[in-house]
Parts: sequence; C-alpha cells; structure tokens
Amino acid sequence: MYSHPHCDTDENKYSALNNIIDLYKDKEGSLIQILHAAQKIYGCLPLDLQQIIAGKLAVPLSKVSGVVSFYSFFSVQPRGLHTIRVCMGTACYVRGGKKIVEHLMKTLDVEPGGTTADGRFTFEVARCIGSCGLAPAIMIDDVVYKQMTPTKVNELLSKF
Ligand code: FES
Repeated sequence: MYSHPHCDTDENKYSALNNIIDLYKDKEGSLIQILHAAQKIYGCLPLDLQQIIAGKLAVPLSKVSGVVSFYSFFSVQPRGLHTIRVCMGTACYVRGGKKIVEHLMKTLDVEPGGTTADGRFTFEVARCIGSCGLAPAIMIDDVVYKQMTPTKVNELLSKF
C-alpha cells in the first residue's frame, strides 16, 4: 500500500490509482492523465508516489518528475484548502503589494509557495491578475479582491 506522511492516503485510494493506471496505461498522453488522477486522489504528487507510477508504467522516474515539474498545476507538496495569490505585477508592487506579501508571511507564518501548518491556505505570488486599476489586488481561489490593505486582508482571512 502507498502511504505518505503528508498526503491523504489509504488502501482504497491505492487500488483506485491502480485501476486508473490500468485504464490509461496504453493510451496516448497516459502519463499526464494518470498524474492528474493521482493528484486528485492523493492531493499531491510526492516523489515516492511518482516512483510508483513510473514503475507501473515502466518509464524512468526522471520522465515522470520532468512532467510534474513542467506543469504548474501539478504539486509535489500538499496544497491548502484555499489558494491565496498576491499580485506582484508592476502596478500592485508600487501600490503596496510587497506590504501585503510581508503581512501574509507574518500572519500565516509561511513563505510564498508554502502551505500553512493547518492546511487551510497555500500562499503564492503571481504576475498581473488584471485588476491594475484597483491595485494592490489579491486572489483567493477564483475571486479577485482589490485595493487591499493589511486590515482588509485580515477581515478577508477571517471569512475563510
Ligand atoms: S499588476 Fe496587479 S493586477 Fe495588474
């Protein structure tokens, strides 16, 4: 059975993964399909899980890890329940985006790219998210929040 200290795993999930590998393995583009399915099942794709997939597909681990690192939607680390993206595009940067990043690092106790210890938030910085007129902007999941200040960030976080 596959188990990883940070990922959500159990025996049913392992057999679900096996079924998916059997289903896709001889098809075109199978590796990406399988990695998508595995990430959906386990929440992330740590190296030991990549190793299992590589073994079952009889391809080198480097091929699997190359695909995982190439696509930003694959994640080696478990992701938080919500994703916060702070815009660090030019307009946001000059109007206080950096302050928002520093505030979140302190409040959430996490570096950009990391996930909070309670698993609630993954915190990232982003390029322009299309709201330059009302900078600084952030995104939580798919929603954009504009003209942010540290106080507004606190109010927002308390709703999640
Ligand atoms: S630079 Fe931040 S929204 Fe455009």
